[in-house]
Amino acid sequence: MEKTVAVRGERFEVLLPPERIAERLPSLAREIASLELADDTVVVVALKGGLIFAGDLLRHLPHTWTLDYVQARSYGSGTVASGRVELLRDLETDIAGRDVLLVDDIVDTGHTSAFLLEHLRARGARQVTLAVLLDKPERRTFDVGEYLAAFEVPDVFVVGYGLDYAERYRGLPFVGVPLEG
Ligand code: IMP
Ligand code: MG
Repeated sequence: MEKTVAVRGERFEVLLPPERIAERLPSLAREIASLELADDTVVVVALKGGLIFAGDLLRHLPHTWTLDYVQARSYGSGTVASGRVELLRDLETDIAGRDVLLVDDIVDTGHTSAFLLEHLRARGARQVTLAVLLDKPERRTFDVGEYLAAFEVPDVFVVGYGLDYAERYRGLPFVGVPLEG
C-alpha cells in the first residue's frame, strides 16, 4: 500500500493517491445527500486547507447550493498548534436560518473546527454540518460533535491536496508524509 514518490527532488510517502480521493468523493456526497439539507444550503469552505477538497467535492453536490468562505488561523509554528484560534476572514453571506455545510481539511485537535462551528451557529445557521477530508482521531482534545470525514489518518503530519507545511505542498495531488532527504 505505502508508496514513496519524488516530486521535484523531494520525497513523500503517499497515504492517499489521487485515485483513492477521487473514488471516495461520490460516496461522501451520498452521505451528505442523506442528511437532506435544504436547496439553499451554503457551502462554507475553510481556507486555505479546505480549498482543493471543497473544489472537487462541490462537483458532486446539488447545483442550487451556494458558496462562501471563512478563514481561521490557529497560532503555532511548524507542525505544532498552540492554544489560540482567530478569524481572519468572515462570511459574505447571511446564513441566518439556513443550512450550512462547513468544508475543511482536517479535524486534528478539533480546536479550529470547534471554533468555526461555534462561529457559524452564532451567525444563526439553522444547522451546520461539518465535512472534512481527514480525521486524525488520536489527537482530538476539543469536542466537535458529529461530522463526516472522507478518510482517517494516523497521528503523522501530512501534506498535499490542500494541506500545507509552512504554506508549501498544498497543490500536491495526493495526501502524503514529507520524508527527509
Ligand atoms: P486543529 O488542531 O484540529 O485545530 O487543526 C488546525 C489546523 O491545523 C488544520 O485546519 C490544518 O490546517 C492544520 N493541521 C492539522 N494537522 C495537520 C497535518 O497533519 N498537516 C497539515 N496541517 C495540519
Ligand atoms: Mg489549515
